[in-house]
Amino acid sequence: MIPNPYEQRRLWKYLLLAFAVVIASGSLLYTNYLVKNIARSERTRAQVWAQSMKQVLSSDDNDYLNYVFSVRDSLSVPAIVTDERGDFKFVRGLDSTKTYIPITASAGLKEKLPKYDIQYFRDQLESMKAQHEPIKINIFGNNYWLVYYKDSQLLSQLRVFPYIQLSVIAIFLLVAYTAFSSSRKSEQNKVWVGLAKETAHQLGTPISSLMAWIELMKEKFDAENDPLIAEMENDVRRLEIVADRFSKIGSRPVLDPHNVYDVVTDFVDYFKVRVSNKISFEVTGNTQLKADLNIPLFDWVLENLMKNAVNAIEGPGKISVEISGSKTKNQLYIDIKDTGKGIPKRKFETVFRPGYTTRKRGWGLGLSLTKRMVENYHNGHIFVKDSELGKGTTFRIVLKKVGQQELVTA
Ligand SMILES: Nc1ncnc2c1ncn2[C@@H]1O[C@H](COP(=O)(O)OP(=O)(O)O)[C@@H](O)[C@H]1O
Ligand SMILES: [Mg+2]
Repeated sequence: MIPNPYEQRRLWKYLLLAFAVVIASGSLLYTNYLVKNIARSERTRAQVWAQSMKQVLSSDDNDYLNYVFSVRDSLSVPAIVTDERGDFKFVRGLDSTKTYIPITASAGLKEKLPKYDIQYFRDQLESMKAQHEPIKINIFGNNYWLVYYKDSQLLSQLRVFPYIQLSVIAIFLLVAYTAFSSSRKSEQNKVWVGLAKETAHQLGTPISSLMAWIELMKEKFDAENDPLIAEMENDVRRLEIVADRFSKIGSRPVLDPHNVYDVVTDFVDYFKVRVSNKISFEVTGNTQLKADLNIPLFDWVLENLMKNAVNAIEGPGKISVEISGSKTKNQLYIDIKDTGKGIPKRKFETVFRPGYTTRKRGWGLGLSLTKRMVENYHNGHIFVKDSELGKGTTFRIVLKKVGQQELVTA
């Protein structure tokens, strides 16, 4: 047996998905770990900085002060120190074009400094409060400072980095996938169309000579009383229809409005005498609805669906077709229902893929061709409406109504 490519593809899909989840969560966990470490070290830095300021205030040893300043300047965390009343003491690491003037500054100094922007510092303080608990530093007696600080730019960037990275990768993969799959689809398209045209072309010549031979035979033998010639002519006409179908899918077919009920009934009449008489047929529903159809192709659609229905039925069974119009939309429905073995729910989409078959001698092309003919050539839609294992299946074709049929309800 040929291995089923769709089972394998599913397996691959799950494997790739699992792999992607592992990569994504691994990268998130690792950045998270880095973020935590850096956040811890930034808290220490803010603390060290505030301590150093305290030393500056309480010392007049110059060497020591130089040391303290050098420590202080190596710290990169934006911070604000307030006293216990909430008055600002020092700020660092914020926008250097904004000047903060301590409350205690003289009026003259306040005049001289041009960009006094208290709102900026208040906003900064709020954003720091939202990020971290302040660090408390005891000064003397009951007095203390509160050191507010916020993540350095590096840390803030690192927090969002994995999300940006993963979305960029996801977008890249999506674009690549779409490009590849559309180029693969157009390649498949070329194969379909090319093969169909070539087949029609190759069948053409022998069919026309067969027709000519039959005409000659009719003249030579007693055609009226010889059923053999009539049978032969029937089969050659049938071959002609097959060639015609192939030539139609090789080019854009012409659509004309047809009564759907009549088209289905004609086909069923033709089809039912060719299959086991244990299977009964029934066509019901609206007899007035019209749709734009190309008869050779649409017959092919019906033939594929009904052949599948026949294959799905073991022993006696019934194939019924119901035609109905949508009451709200400008659409009509053709429901092809059988009493066969059914399709499992998770295969409702898969059955339309080329190569999917459960039959020993099947090619798995019938439904994919059918979908193509309904969707690409009749601007319609086809899907498995419902199916129950052991009970039967209903395929639904949706087409656009034409003419004044909108008024007629099913
Ligand atoms: N009416 C149906 N009832 C049950 N199974 C169906 C029916 N129609 C299609 N299938 C399933 O879909 C598969 C694909 O159908 P198709 O594309 O026509 O290829 P093939 O007939 O060569 O197998 C079938 O092998 C069968 O498993
Ligand atoms: Mg088939």
